[in-house]
Amino acid sequence: MSYFHYSNGQLCAEGVPLGDITKDVDTPVYVYSASALADNYHGFSRACEPMDALIAYSVKANSNLAVLTLLASCGAGADVVSGGELERALRAGIAPQKIVFSGVGKSRDEMHKALKVGIYQFNIESAPELIALNDVACALNTRAAIALRINPDVSAGGHEKISTGKAENKFGVNLDQARGVYKQARELPGIEVIGVDMHIGSQIDSLAPFETALLKGLDLVRELRRDGHDIRTFDMGGGLGIVYNQDEDTLPTVTDYMDMVRRHTAGLGLKMIFEPGRAIAGNAGVLLSRVQYVKHGSARNFLILDAAMNDLLRPALYGAYHAIQPVKEPMSDQTEIYDIVGPVCETGDTFATHRRLSVMQSDDLVAMLSAGAYGAVQAGQYNTRPLVPEVLVKDSQFSVIRMRPDLEDILRLESVPGWFGA
Ligand code: LLP
Repeated sequence: MSYFHYSNGQLCAEGVPLGDITKDVDTPVYVYSASALADNYHGFSRACEPMDALIAYSVKANSNLAVLTLLASCGAGADVVSGGELERALRAGIAPQKIVFSGVGKSRDEMHKALKVGIYQFNIESAPELIALNDVACALNTRAAIALRINPDVSAGGHEKISTGKAENKFGVNLDQARGVYKQARELPGIEVIGVDMHIGSQIDSLAPFETALLKGLDLVRELRRDGHDIRTFDMGGGLGIVYNQDEDTLPTVTDYMDMVRRHTAGLGLKMIFEPGRAIAGNAGVLLSRVQYVKHGSARNFLILDAAMNDLLRPALYGAYHAIQPVKEPMSDQTEIYDIVGPVCETGDTFATHRRLSVMQSDDLVAMLSAGAYGAVQAGQYNTRPLVPEVLVKDSQFSVIRMRPDLEDILRLESVPGWFGA
C-alpha cells in the first residue's frame, strides 16, 4: 500500500492533502505517515517469526518522540547511540529491557545512566571501552551485559560514508582479535558476556554481505562457546536498504532477509536482535517544500525551493537520490527538465539534477520522497535557518510533532562576552 498517493488531483499523506498541512505549518516541513511507520514495524516483526527476536528500532534514523511512542506501542525496542537517544527511548515508553546501546565512543556518564535504568545489552566496540564499562559497573556494584561488536571485514555496498564493516573502518573489533577481547571480558567482575554484535553498513541492497558477515559471526559464536562463553544473543545490526528510485532500485525484501537469517541460525538457541532504522522510517516520510522561484538559466532550468541542504542533508552529503514529486497531480504531458536546488550559497545545496517534472511555477509545492529516515534528525540551522518542523499524519488527521523554533529561540542560546569591547 502507498501511504503517499494522488487523490482528487493532489498528493496526500494517508487521507490528508499535503496542501492542507501548509495552511497550518509553513514549508519546509517533514510529513510522516503513522500507518506507514506502524505497518513497516509490523511487517518486520511478522517476518521474524517464529524466531526469538528483539527488534531494536535504530533511534538515530528518526528520533522524534511521537515516532518513538508510536513504535513503542507497536512493541518496538530501541537501539540507541547516546544518552540523549536513551532518554528519548525511555520517555517514549520503551522498556529498558528492550534497549541496546551501540556506538564507538560511549562516555562514562552515558554508561552510568544506561546501567542505572537497566538496559538489555551494551554493544562494545573496543577493549578500552570494555574496561571503562567495567569500572562504571563495579562502581555501581552491578554487572553490564555485553556483546562485542565484531568487524567481519565485508564490503557492504551502500555509500562509502555509511559502510562500516570493513577492517579499515573505525567500527568494532577485528575478528582475529575478538576471542582475546572476549577472554579479557570474562575476567572483568563488572562484565557479563552474553552475545555477539555486528552492523556492517546502511542502505545495503543485497543479501550477500549480510550472509557472509552472519556466517563469520556464527563461526565465532561456535568458537566462543567452545571457549566456555555463554553466548545467548546475536545482534545483526541494521542496514537493510529501501527503494529510493522506483526505476532503478531492486532490493531484497525483509522476508528474504529473515529467511536467510532463519536458515543459518536455526537450532543455535540464539536470541536474535535486529536494529532496523531506514527500513522502518525511510519510506514513511516526505519533505514538503515550496518552489520559491523558477529560474531559466542559459544552461539549465532551476527550481529554487525553500528547503535546503540544512533541512535534508542526504543529497549533499552522500549524493543520495530522492524522488521528487509535484503536489499538484500532473494533468498534462507538458514537462521540463530541472535542477532542483535550495537557497543556501553552496553548489552542494542541490537536491537533484536533470529531473523531468511537470512544468512548475513559483509557489507550487513539491514533496521529496523517502525522507523519513536520516532527514529531520540530520537537519541543522546553517544559514540561521530554523530547524525544520515535523508533522505526523494518521488517516485524515495531522499534528505538529516538532514545531519550528523561532529566531529568538535560536539567538537566546548565544551571548556576547561582557569583556567584549570594554
Ligand atoms: N545499528 C547501528 C549500530 C548503526 O550504526 C545503524 C546506522 C543502524 C543500526 C541502522 O541502520 P539502518 O537500518 O538505518 O541502515 N545517515 C546515513 C545513514 C547512516 C547510518 C548509520 N548507522 C544516511 O542518510 O544514509
